[in-house]
Amino acid sequence: MTQDDLIFFKKWFSDYCKSFYSSNIEDQKNIYLKEQHTFNVCKNILEIARELSLSENDIILAETVALFHDIGRFLQYAKYKTFRDSISVNHGLLGAQILFEEKILNNLPDKEQTLIIQAVKFHNAFSIPKAEKEDIIFFIKLIRDTDKLDIWRVFIEYYECSEEDRASAVGLGLPDTVEYSKDIISCLYKKQIVSLSKVNTLNDFKLLQLSWIYDLNFKNSIILLVEREYIDRITATLP
Ligand SMILES: [Fe+2]
Repeated sequence: MTQDDLIFFKKWFSDYCKSFYSSNIEDQKNIYLKEQHTFNVCKNILEIARELSLSENDIILAETVALFHDIGRFLQYAKYKTFRDSISVNHGLLGAQILFEEKILNNLPDKEQTLIIQAVKFHNAFSIPKAEKEDIIFFIKLIRDTDKLDIWRVFIEYYECSEEDRASAVGLGLPDTVEYSKDIISCLYKKQIVSLSKVNTLNDFKLLQLSWIYDLNFKNSIILLVEREYIDRITATLP
């Protein structure tokens, strides 16, 4: 694929986002948040891809995966008014369907279309699917790391700002009480990734986010995590 393809995709993405803009302040905050998150994941993926000395073609592919990884979020929010997959729809799967049905990628070689669609589909899966080809797994790892790096930013901003300034759907509607689950703490001690199904409170959710540290694939992701002080900033909001 070429830079021109990417320019076309960026224009398409921008128009697609605008089609979900709302005069309702709450809804607009949530939609805008996902649009900005996408731009940040694009920046993160470029940073890591360049550090890994990928080819020009692979760098463009990586940025396209980042651009489309959360494309399912807009329809998910429009339909269900939530970003919580378990009570609405799997947004990775929905995103893959949208890319396929809208025929956005049709001008690309089949191999690249499959790679982008599979990376979008599995970016949010609990673990990396083993059945995929090696090159697809590489891009799935890239998007999972760079997505997490910006989700940490989104949540830290959410925890640090006042209630009226928050984008409501970020907290997944979880109660902001002092409790947390012992089961989740024990996962952290075992260096295991916490499943969302175990989460009952916002504190549990913060601990879940800390457990993502054990799910990073690239050395540079860990460097960015440390440089941006995400661990300290999340733990500072815990009781
Ligand atoms: Fe996502």
